[in-house]
Amino acid sequence: MGLSHRIKSFLDDRFDTATARTIIDQQAHKRLPPHTSWFHVFGSLSLLLFVSQTITGILLLVYYRPTPEDAHQSIQYITAEVHFGWLYRQIHAWGATLMILVVLLHMLRTYFHGAYKKPRELTWITGVLIFILTITFGFTGYLLPWNQIAFWATTVGTESANKVPYIGGWLRYLLRGGDAVTGETLSRFFVLHVIILPWLLTGLVVIHLLLMRLNNLTTLERVGEEKPVPPDSGIPFFPVHVAKEGVVAVLLLAVLVTLSVLAPWEIGEPADPLSTPPHIKPEWYFLPSYQLLKYFEGPYGAMIGIVACSVPFLLLFLWPFLDRGKERHPRKRPLAVAFGVLGLVAALFLGYLGHISETEQTFFGKRYHIDLLGWPHEIVEEQGDAEQAH
Ligand code: HEM
Repeated sequence: MGLSHRIKSFLDDRFDTATARTIIDQQAHKRLPPHTSWFHVFGSLSLLLFVSQTITGILLLVYYRPTPEDAHQSIQYITAEVHFGWLYRQIHAWGATLMILVVLLHMLRTYFHGAYKKPRELTWITGVLIFILTITFGFTGYLLPWNQIAFWATTVGTESANKVPYIGGWLRYLLRGGDAVTGETLSRFFVLHVIILPWLLTGLVVIHLLLMRLNNLTTLERVGEEKPVPPDSGIPFFPVHVAKEGVVAVLLLAVLVTLSVLAPWEIGEPADPLSTPPHIKPEWYFLPSYQLLKYFEGPYGAMIGIVACSVPFLLLFLWPFLDRGKERHPRKRPLAVAFGVLGLVAALFLGYLGHISETEQTFFGKRYHIDLLGWPHEIVEEQGDAEQAH
């Protein structure tokens, strides 16, 4: 008897394996709705990236030291000395960015297919929580190398907590573990990043996947008129959809390794609390909120700014209960689609303004200085300067 047979009969003698096998079989051969396409792979890609982040994160933990004295040097050690340390550090750093991007794409897919509508409101709400946890992962992980940019970006980021009405000062203190960003902050971010967030996210992802399996993927029929996909139609989950997911997974891993080799993340200079670098900017996923906050000045203005930044998240949570329309097909929901596209364009535009603010740019052959708020000011060279330049 082969080893696999022996293991099977060992388990059969002790448990009711037939029931387990039936459930696995049913799930594997489940039929997905006929419109299931390449756009439906972003959920499992998010899962793949979460698993990759967990594995590379555990590897990083072996040599990482979460203290202001050792953190920066321990990352340098991992990159320069540890076998393949440079590779798994890069895969972790790029994986974080790609995970946020892929989760966003998955969210857009489910939004445009009306998958948040009854009976999938809870799948959507667990998704919004997952999205918030994913960017919090990014925020807390960014500080861990304890370099200049991370230190000052965290100082600016946690400072904005102070603008939250009523509890701002307390919130900033809670995040920093004091009045300024110090080793206390590093400890807090470390505990959040490696213990609290991973377990919370794991729990939420398990619930999310269970809910998704219980309701199956949404068809494009009207709410209340959805029929289960019959066994002889639709797309078989295994092997057809799984094969698609496999192809995209291999491509994603190739992109991760290519980026890691060709565009490695720098470690940067160690943090220096006494010297502020010019133009501190957060990572791309915080740029829209960062830019929006700049338009609100003064104590009351700043409060309104924070509220304005929270509105999109509140809308995301409440969306299944605000959009009560029965249609799911994007062509039959022009308002919801227009709202989604408008939100996306506004976020991209604000993010772009945040990216180019306080830099010099050339548009149509002319040089501009882009100010803090994103307004362009043409740079007119004095004649003397121009002659000197020649
Ligand atoms: C780590 C992050 C996430 C993982 C691993 C994940 C995983 C999945 C998977 C595997 C599916 C089924 C296939 C697919 O639709 O792509 C799915 C469906 C779904 N997800 Fe997510 N998801 C994540 C984040 C999110 C977010 C941020 C949202 C929205 C805010 C969301 C909302 C939904 C909804 C509404 C469905 C049902 C889709 C349907 O019925 O067609 N998910 N998720």
